[in-house]
Amino acid sequence: MARAHLTLDPAFTIGPVRRRLFGGFVEHLGRHVYDGIHEPGHPSAGPDGFRRDVVELVKELGVTTVRYPGGNFVSGYHWEDGVGPVAERPRRLDLAWHSTETNEVGLHEFQHWLELVGSELMLAVNLGTRGPQEALELVEYANVPAGTARTAQRAANGRQEPFGITMWCLGNEMDGPWQLGHRNAEDYGKLASMTAKAIRQVDPRLELVVCGSSSRSMPTFGEWERVVLEHTYDDIDYISCHAYYEERDGDLASFLASGVDMDAFIESVVATADHVRALKRSDKRIDISFDEWNVWYLSRWLEQSRTFTVDDWPVAPRLLEDVYSVADAVTVGGLLISLLNHADRVASASLAQLVNVIGPIMTEPGGPAWRQTTFFPFSVTARAAQGIALRVALDADPVTTAVYGDVPVVAAAATFDGSSVSVFLQNRNVTEATSVTVDLGRFMPARVVAARGVWDEDVHAVNDLRHPERVGLRSNDTAALADGTLTIELPPASWTAVTVA
Ligand code: AHR
Repeated sequence: MARAHLTLDPAFTIGPVRRRLFGGFVEHLGRHVYDGIHEPGHPSAGPDGFRRDVVELVKELGVTTVRYPGGNFVSGYHWEDGVGPVAERPRRLDLAWHSTETNEVGLHEFQHWLELVGSELMLAVNLGTRGPQEALELVEYANVPAGTARTAQRAANGRQEPFGITMWCLGNEMDGPWQLGHRNAEDYGKLASMTAKAIRQVDPRLELVVCGSSSRSMPTFGEWERVVLEHTYDDIDYISCHAYYEERDGDLASFLASGVDMDAFIESVVATADHVRALKRSDKRIDISFDEWNVWYLSRWLEQSRTFTVDDWPVAPRLLEDVYSVADAVTVGGLLISLLNHADRVASASLAQLVNVIGPIMTEPGGPAWRQTTFFPFSVTARAAQGIALRVALDADPVTTAVYGDVPVVAAAATFDGSSVSVFLQNRNVTEATSVTVDLGRFMPARVVAARGVWDEDVHAVNDLRHPERVGLRSNDTAALADGTLTIELPPASWTAVTVA
């Protein structure tokens, strides 16, 4: 059996786990908003049309911030279409997803939903087809208390108090040729700088995210970040990273090790940001907003031949409804480990997305809502990872992967909240269990509070409409504590969280 040994010490820390690390993402895409979170007429919907069964699941998931309204959608969006009397709102073409946007849900409704689920709004502005003027008007509408035509409009639309939105994204994936208004780094950097300076004049409290690369495999990756940051360094707070992973050609070992790629991505962007900091002789540090990350079978989506016609613009079609397996959940757990191990530089992150669209939650119109497999590592980590992220000293046997070569058989992260230590473990060995020991001596823990995770004899088992609870959290009864050392046996291809106190 493979072995791994971890040493944890209260003096070896990475930094505070910022709560925004456990964010989500809601885009106007497919059945995410309409027939997902919002379904008037559904038995569980309130008078506002929002499904309360979904609200309860989102609360259980524990998302702290929610990025909205896109994604690619935002690059053609007119925020003004989504405010005012619902019956008077225009139906518009959504070019990003070749759909019809009814605008039944807009800023006010979404903020109301966020109040139901208890999360913070992270709002993206359209820098695809629009620019600083429209962003200025939106910030004024959202954040200025009173005294102008835009704030009077907000009050007339039912909201006297400002929304007070702090986190703003300056566009979405502007490096991607698929993006409406796609630009080169030079042009986007200038536009983002201009927009950031303008909206800060309205509200200096804003925290601004500039677009980094859509993935580490973009041909412009690295250079994009450098050029954009050279233009915007003094104007913004965070640079975004986006990454999606999938199991390719049955190569489960490489897939489970996707966190290796995420580690490299984060570290490269940090290096680039710090390089620009040096060039600018700046005291300011730019951190990362990893505001789209997940497992997504993107290659399957790209392979589907879709012919769009000018007379076919469906409302809320079924798009990107990936059904997640145990292997996907174990990979998501590994990606959360990577984020925790970079808690010093990743200020916020958004699991993309939340409901129906590559989401941990699925719904059926008029029917039930259920947890996908990926729900479990997220909900457990969002709750258990509190306080300070600890620097894990890891001594592990290697496992060989086709994509990343030899990698440690176990990926691990740990946190300390002042009274309990939580250890997050992923076994990347696809066929064999791994024996883990964790030296916790200086924490002097007395007992194992919980040891639970996701694994299954069938790594491709899923939850679906017919079997919504086929996969769930399991308890690992091998966890034991003696003389300050935790021992646990991790099943093959598994993700586990252990809390000791
Ligand atoms: O999350 C789905 C899409 O992925 C988003 O709209 C876009 O930003 C990314 O390419």
